[in-house]
Amino acid sequence: MKVLITGATSGIGRQLVADYLAAGETVYACGRSEAKLQSLQEELQGQGQLHLVPFDVTDHTGTLIALRQLSEIDCVILSAGVCEYIDEPSDIQGPLFQRVFAANYFGVVNCVEGIIPQLSEGARLVIIDSMARLFPFTRAEAYASSKAAVHYLANTLKVDLAPAGVQVISVSPGFVSTPMTSKNDFAMPMQVTAAEASNAIRSGIEKGKHQIYFPRLFGFIMRMLNALPLGLQLYLSKRMKKG
Ligand SMILES: NC(=O)c1ccc[n+]([C@@H]2O[C@H](COP(=O)([O-])OP(=O)(O)OC[C@H]3O[C@@H](n4cnc5c(N)ncnc54)[C@H](OP(=O)(O)O)[C@@H]3O)[C@@H](O)[C@H]2O)c1
Repeated sequence: MKVLITGATSGIGRQLVADYLAAGETVYACGRSEAKLQSLQEELQGQGQLHLVPFDVTDHTGTLIALRQLSEIDCVILSAGVCEYIDEPSDIQGPLFQRVFAANYFGVVNCVEGIIPQLSEGARLVIIDSMARLFPFTRAEAYASSKAAVHYLANTLKVDLAPAGVQVISVSPGFVSTPMTSKNDFAMPMQVTAAEASNAIRSGIEKGKHQIYFPRLFGFIMRMLNALPLGLQLYLSKRMKKG
């Protein structure tokens, strides 16, 4: 199987690269830093067929040029993403939201555009959003709205790409211990390791699920919170903010 992974230089993406290589798959590791991709290759040397694909997902032309060179990809996992929080109302600024959406939303759109013609029959397109999209978390205005947008995009692609034989899978992780979350200064309940995240994602893909939540209990709790009346969600969010 040929697997393409964005965000391959860190966290969940990096772990997926290592695990798919260990399973004998051919892996196309995508990242915006050539130096980080080289260090990934040195670390995983001799562990299977690893190809490096350097591009920045926010660069529309660069993304298309990089992806259009590939062919017959069986599984695409779009993990590249960034997180920026809103600490003060004065942080609600267009450029911050544009940075977050450039990577988390338009980065996904660019990759989908570039990779669709290069997919094999029956390919899987896996798009990572976040459980943050399920609740009005304070400070997450930019990050969680970009993830809600990309989740909606994935759900519509599940319908529109089905006739072409492409299965689209949404992944909504809870907290995963990675460089992205190492900066967080708040409690992260039920946090899992990148290895556990990779296991959950690979097993969900293998089973052909259209939606993957992990850890499962946290996913259940978040979906219950999402089902509450909005007034109650806002009350709980305000209580959480006060700590
Ligand atoms: N960790 C969590 O708790 C958690 C929870 C829910 C969802 N997620 C989502 O899971 C995905 C992976 O997160 P992670 O925790 O593994 O984060 P991470 O360790 O910070 O890794 C993010 C990866 O995305 C790459 N990236 C960022 N902007 C890019 C761009 N413009 N072009 C190309 N690559 C870019 C980074 O490249 P560089 O190394 O060059 O920066 C890095 O390889 C993200 O979409 C994130 O939102 C994470």
